[in-house]
Amino acid sequence: MKVLTVVGARPQFVKAFPVSRALRDGHDEVLVHTGQHYDEGLSDVFFEELDIPEPDHHLGVGSATHATQTAEMMTGIEELVDAEDPDAVLLYGDTNSTLAGAVVAAKEDAAVAHVEAGLRSDNWAMPEEVNRVLTDHASDLLFAPSEAAAANLREEGITEGVAVTGDVMQDAILHARERAAEGSSFLAELGVDDGEYVLATVHRAGNTDDPVRLDAIMSGLAAAPRPVVFPAHPRTVGALEEHGLWEAYADELRLIEPVGYLDFVRLLDGAERVATDSGGVQKEAFYLDTPCVTLRDETEWTETVDCGWNVLVGADEPAIREALSADFVPPEKPPLYGDGAAAETIREVLDRV
Ligand code: UD1
Ligand code: UDP
Repeated sequence: MKVLTVVGARPQFVKAFPVSRALRDGHDEVLVHTGQHYDEGLSDVFFEELDIPEPDHHLGVGSATHATQTAEMMTGIEELVDAEDPDAVLLYGDTNSTLAGAVVAAKEDAAVAHVEAGLRSDNWAMPEEVNRVLTDHASDLLFAPSEAAAANLREEGITEGVAVTGDVMQDAILHARERAAEGSSFLAELGVDDGEYVLATVHRAGNTDDPVRLDAIMSGLAAAPRPVVFPAHPRTVGALEEHGLWEAYADELRLIEPVGYLDFVRLLDGAERVATDSGGVQKEAFYLDTPCVTLRDETEWTETVDCGWNVLVGADEPAIREALSADFVPPEKPPLYGDGAAAETIREVLDRV
């Protein structure tokens, strides 16, 4: 069969990597990059490090308002679906690239397949929540990473085409963990020791676009009892500069450029704990036994909180401070989100389309 895969943002390159590898063994994949992320460090580095084949088509859409960006993607994807006539259009996660692919493919003959179906924050103010709910309701095949995600779909009346597959990011990190550690001098280059620093990432619009929240988060991080390494997303760099916060925190926090996937996995593996508002990083922390402090008021990955390895602190400065010092992880860690073979399960379902 022919599968047209749409990716565009950093986490989608990571998610697509194991699935593409499994899919290309027996199927024809056409890879489309929307161009939502275009900086070398947010895009090319993932293709190089993970040996992802060059995209067959690059839409070069770039940054814009939600409507402009999504509309440009839709125009490009529609032309490609018409030209390529795929049996399925494969989508990942909850970005504008995901939504654009879903809206286009739902009106074409192709089956719409969504990896990371059924996740919910129940926060409609998040652009990602809008994207994932609409994508799920446009999808024919829904690959849910957990039983809880499948239950969320059932609550919305979606029962057909749902498969609980586990999490493709676990497949990716199992592949990357050893490669990331092999001969890496990255921690030494940064001047930090294994287990002796906090890793931080912030990029969620709800945090970066609100100066009060952003300031509270930065101030909470600056109070950490260990050095903080902070690879900053360009959205966050822009917001820190705009709100006059860059100068205030640049010395206290080790603000660095976004790093490639292998260096990031190395940093996360070696961190004493991580503070993040990322979706993917919460799960990756769990897989690497790194305690996670989530800088949000809610999470889609509720199982990580329920089992005690992740705490939600929002943008509450005292709560961030406390969580960066407290011992909160229990001795046991249950297996969550499958066993690292989600990509194979997804391929088996697609085999039957
Ligand atoms: C997007 C996704 C978010 C995901 C994140 C992963 C949406 C609505 N948001 O957020 O769900 O968690 O990607 O990282 O789809 N920029 C650059 N260089 C780039 C890309 C972006 O400088 O290569 C800057 C631009 O100023 C742009 C801003 O970052 O306006 C935001 O980029 P955008 O793709 O709109 O959203 P993200 O915040 O990256
Ligand atoms: N990541 C990376 N370098 C960084 C920050 C993150 O390689 O500097 C990877 C991380 O390992 C994960 C993905 O990017 O696989 C998460 O992307 P992001 O946090 O931007 O998006 P989200 O998961 O929140 O949608």
